[in-house]
Amino acid sequence: MNVEERIQELKAERKAIILAHNYQPPEIQDLADFVGDSLGLSQQAASTDAEVIIFCGVDFMAESAKILSPQKKVILPDAEAMCPMAAMCTDVELAPIKERYPEAAVVAYVNTSAAVKTLADVCCTSSNAVKVVGSIPQKRIIFVPDRNLGAYVQRFHPDKEILLWPGYCPTHHDITVGEVMEIKGKHPQAKLIVHPECTPEVIDLADHVSSTEGMIKYVRSSEAEEFIVGTEMDMTYRLSKVCPGKRYYPIPSAVCPNMKRIDGPSLLKALETLSPEIELSPETIEAARRPLERMMEIGRGD
Ligand code: 13P
Ligand code: SF4
Repeated sequence: MNVEERIQELKAERKAIILAHNYQPPEIQDLADFVGDSLGLSQQAASTDAEVIIFCGVDFMAESAKILSPQKKVILPDAEAMCPMAAMCTDVELAPIKERYPEAAVVAYVNTSAAVKTLADVCCTSSNAVKVVGSIPQKRIIFVPDRNLGAYVQRFHPDKEILLWPGYCPTHHDITVGEVMEIKGKHPQAKLIVHPECTPEVIDLADHVSSTEGMIKYVRSSEAEEFIVGTEMDMTYRLSKVCPGKRYYPIPSAVCPNMKRIDGPSLLKALETLSPEIELSPETIEAARRPLERMMEIGRGD
């Protein structure tokens, strides 16, 4: 029996579901029951009746799954798969800022630890950040941790004052205008689609800005045949699976090494051992659930 067959067998035995983010390596996307963006994965985690969630992504995503489904076992196959942007904002750093601006709402991108979420009024993903900020009454907002996403949201809400945390995603932040222009030069007919974690300068060049799942929607409805995909490069694999027959050009430098830590053997080991398991205190789960559920009520925005 090969690794794939053993994974399918164990998955049934364990009553497990395999969730994978759009940035996971192709072999993991092919093995998953559901592949999607951060919001779609949270929705799946909240609604599944599986007993075990094997989360192929990074730490904050698996934590969100645990918060939304605390009675389930949530396994992150590689304990070191961590989002460096989420690590750029801690609860210890955020607490005094929140105190300094008591009238402000704290909007936490899901790319934050469970501890940071306990201090938030509401969470958002890249799909619904603009909608979430528009839905809250406060004029002043402490937006953590992605300064690029926060600045993008500010464009849609000139009436609000968004205080930007100095965090960023290295994978997206390091995509340069020069790199993008070079690919555009080679493929002049291609539409440029970019993720809002990119810098404002790169966003300004784009034909379309959205979450990874929003990119699928755009590509499906577009008459264009070619797309430059301004996000983590394995998104092109997902696009080629769900929308074949079009051409997708990745940004070769845009690799998230943390998303690549999970492979077939580590996924198999996770199913065999049901570890490493996400563990959070009941108090943290309780306090972090409110802002996540508030976000889920608002739903998809792109
Ligand atoms: P989405 O899943 O919202 O598209 O965001 C991408 C991302 O960087 C997650 O780490
Ligand atoms: Fe974090 Fe960026 Fe990797 Fe997403 S792509 S997990 S935001 S480092």
